[in-house]
Amino acid sequence: MPDITVGQRRWPVAMGTNLLDALNAQGLNVPYSCRAGSCHACLVHCLRGEPRDNQPEALEAGKRAEGWRLACQCQVVDDLCVAVFDPATDGLPAHVEACDWLSPDVLRLRLQPSRPLRYHAGQHMVLWTESGVARPYSLASLPQEDRFLEFHIDCRQPGAFVDIAKGLKAGAALRLGELRGGALRYDPGWQDSALWLLAAGTGLAPLYGILREALRQGHSGEIRLVHLAREQAQHYLASELKALAVHHPSVRIELVLPEAFSHALAALRPSSRQVHALVCGSPTSVEAYSKRLFLAGVPRNQVLADVFTGRETGVFHS
Ligand code: FES
Repeated sequence: MPDITVGQRRWPVAMGTNLLDALNAQGLNVPYSCRAGSCHACLVHCLRGEPRDNQPEALEAGKRAEGWRLACQCQVVDDLCVAVFDPATDGLPAHVEACDWLSPDVLRLRLQPSRPLRYHAGQHMVLWTESGVARPYSLASLPQEDRFLEFHIDCRQPGAFVDIAKGLKAGAALRLGELRGGALRYDPGWQDSALWLLAAGTGLAPLYGILREALRQGHSGEIRLVHLAREQAQHYLASELKALAVHHPSVRIELVLPEAFSHALAALRPSSRQVHALVCGSPTSVEAYSKRLFLAGVPRNQVLADVFTGRETGVFHS
């Protein structure tokens, strides 16, 4: 039986135990969200020993070389000495610049990091509260245009992070964790293609950044942005999107409610194979969009999708 050591604690675990489960079973409260190697909330530092990593490519080589691992993707097959991510020492300090409601359910959080960050539209990042609650969120801001980091927090369901976020005020301190590549990005090679941005709920956040990035880069093909929301009031960026469309005639905005969703899906018909589609939202909505894109003949390698799990279980750090 291999042993795990964290600080002063040492305990044996069954061979092949999932590292995240082993750490949390001991009350270490390592945060997690996707359990799929995507959000990077479960990052831990392996100081000695090597776990079996089922998805090494999920973490960039430099970070792996430093000993960081995604606990959800690792199995314990040897003695391990692990340090869990400590936002106080490993995270970047930031403070809330503004916090306001974009709709009855969507909170906009604008953060000022203690030093400028290099990132691109579509990436996501783990946010840590002062009390040690963590959750990954997509960036809605654009580094070249915004001097803050912007996140759209879906507050419909209660949760440890959401409950704290609702009470945040300007000046409040937060810590920034891992900045993650994310599945979504804008490629300058797409400039003449049609670009479809298909969102549901706060899946709009990264696509809003990507829409602005495409325009900043002078995208010349048509851009179609579809936003599915549960009700009219939840089309939380309606005025910003419409203002963009006024200034950019190539941009078409479709704000869709559930009763019109099948109609909107059926209308997704590419005029040529030169279309790139970026999809973001809940698992059900991403599946519905992806199925339609497949039926419409959009090649699989021209579709990028990011699924929001909405899961916040276990995102605590003591
Ligand atoms: S990457 Fe491990 S929980 Fe998301």
